[in-house]
Amino acid sequence: MQIVILPSADAVAEYGANLFIRQLTDKPGSVLGLATGSTPLALYQLLVNACRQQQVSFARAKTFNLDEYLGLAGDHPQSYRYFMQQHLFNAIDILPENTAVPDGTATDPVAACQQYERQIADAGGIDLQLLGLGRNGHIGFNEPSSGLRSRTRIKTLTPATIADNARFFQPGEYQPHLSITMGIGTILDAGKVLLLATGTSKASAVKAMIEGPLTAACPASALQLHQQAVVVLDDAAAAELADIEFYRHIERENQALLKRLSGQ
Ligand code: GLP
Repeated sequence: MQIVILPSADAVAEYGANLFIRQLTDKPGSVLGLATGSTPLALYQLLVNACRQQQVSFARAKTFNLDEYLGLAGDHPQSYRYFMQQHLFNAIDILPENTAVPDGTATDPVAACQQYERQIADAGGIDLQLLGLGRNGHIGFNEPSSGLRSRTRIKTLTPATIADNARFFQPGEYQPHLSITMGIGTILDAGKVLLLATGTSKASAVKAMIEGPLTAACPASALQLHQQAVVVLDDAAAAELADIEFYRHIERENQALLKRLSGQ
């Protein structure tokens, strides 16, 4: 796990956006795994700006979103498909047919999950997967106790996650308790994983993910098994890490090495 600690949420977004831009520059036909939630919003805005300024193109890219509420159609304002259209897809040059979000209204959702896995495999697998982090350590909608090798499937949301996400729904509005989510095994198959976490509310989940044991009780701890996982934190989200000075030291060394190698 590469742990990058930056002074602000804006710096986290910029770091993440630059990784995406580099990925698309190196491989314009990249398969990108995307996330929803408030954390990636600033990163998406930077990608929109970069696309408008022709610094990056999604014309040959394909995307797969992590998850969707079961029972919400893509035109529902709280659906993750709607979120992606509003915050990214409508504002970049991606082809609509190259964007995939699990179908929350599939008549056979179990078959739809298997189909989603096949679609990812047919696209050649995910090159770069973006993740946020739930306060309980979830990634996608893989709640605590999720199988560490799980694949795309239906998951019941915990009361804590339902409460956390209630802020996006109107009072009295139907809020689903079920979701379709890529599994932890699906996420671990991505070539690279980029997890962003900002703010004090994420600090204890961040500690469990990085310094806790590998356990289904903290699904994000599964990233300890990944060969190319980058975790980008702001100071607030990193605040509970016991070895914070060590992680900062490693990053300084990494930067110095990169500078030396590039002859600067
Ligand atoms: C939801 C999403 C996750 C996301 C999490 C954190 O539960 N399914 O993918 O990481 O919320 O959201 P936020 O970034 O708003 O804290």
